[in-house]
Amino acid sequence: MKNILITGGMGFIGKFLVRKLLSERDYKLTIVDNLSSSKADEQISANPRVKFVNESFEKWTPPTDAKYHQIYHLTSPVGPLGVLKYKGRIGEMILGQLYHAAEFAMKMDAKLLEISTSEVYGQQPDNEQEGQREDIDKIVPSNLTVRLEYGVAKLLCEIVLKNLSRDNKLDYICIRPFNIVGPQQNGDLGFIIPRFLKQAALGNPLTVYGDGSQKRTFTHVQDFVDAIFLVMESDRTGEIYNVGNPNNVTTVLDLAEKIKAVTKTSSEISFVDPVAMFKDFAEAWNKIPNIEKISAHTGWQPKYSLDFIVKEVAEMGESYLIN
Ligand SMILES: NC(=O)c1ccc[n+]([C@@H]2O[C@H](COP(=O)([O-])OP(=O)(O)OC[C@H]3O[C@@H](n4cnc5c(N)ncnc54)[C@H](O)[C@@H]3O)[C@@H](O)[C@H]2O)c1
Repeated sequence: MKNILITGGMGFIGKFLVRKLLSERDYKLTIVDNLSSSKADEQISANPRVKFVNESFEKWTPPTDAKYHQIYHLTSPVGPLGVLKYKGRIGEMILGQLYHAAEFAMKMDAKLLEISTSEVYGQQPDNEQEGQREDIDKIVPSNLTVRLEYGVAKLLCEIVLKNLSRDNKLDYICIRPFNIVGPQQNGDLGFIIPRFLKQAALGNPLTVYGDGSQKRTFTHVQDFVDAIFLVMESDRTGEIYNVGNPNNVTTVLDLAEKIKAVTKTSSEISFVDPVAMFKDFAEAWNKIPNIEKISAHTGWQPKYSLDFIVKEVAEMGESYLIN
């Protein structure tokens, strides 16, 4: 039986991943999570195959006889507002935690999966037809924002893993997610779908940043964990993969209209300057992935449409307001 370590396993993505691992494999799971942006799931922590440690990952060391075969590393500040809280410290936090996980992986010969970000593409020239390919590995910044601090920190993790693997045979994979959404995403971190749904539920204006012409594409969290499970279980190593759903492209304004229609809210749409609302905020560029690489390597294809995602999350009622 394999032992799996999941850092941040009580978070939004972590809980879906844990449920998948428990249902697909007979593995034993250790979750380290300090619940700084989530709540513990009692069903998960009560499972006899799960050991839940409520502690900050950077301070945690495994028992001396522990041996993990796989490490899913998910802890990180996340979300447009979630990262603003940690400005100036994001690099230290993200890199420090990644290095801690990489040390265990090297010591135990475990395969390490790092969740990077689509922010590593920065403001690339628009290429909606092709989408963003993994071989683009340089950030094209317009200015030194907190968003850039987050993107650069995640890119540095990718570089560190590559360089460590050259001398230490580190077995690792990096994933670049594109707007992962689904039930019970924390509504306080600034993610756009829970934010619009919260505003619609409260009858407040749906606040669209700028003119709303910026494009996004949304990926169901179940599709996402299916993808990362496939690459972790494969023989692939040292690879970077985009994980997103290029079929779900929408402008932010069209998304707001869709949410108004689904929720039948009386809320209006209002166009705002996010920087006036949140100091140091920077809005993202168009974000559309090219997923040919992961599809060719694993056969993975996303299944859930944007209409399904919006309806499902809206129908969960106010549970999207909390994690
Ligand atoms: N959701 C997305 O669209 C998205 C997009 C890009 C990248 N990611 C990445 O995916 C990963 C998971 O994101 P998520 O959406 O599930 O976020 P989340 O905030 O729901 O989950 C992160 C979990 O890590 C825990 N955590 C944070 N710092 C910790 C620490 N120092 N020690 C122990 N636990 C800690 C939190 O309590 C939380 O449970 C992150 O690495 C994030 O950067 C997510």
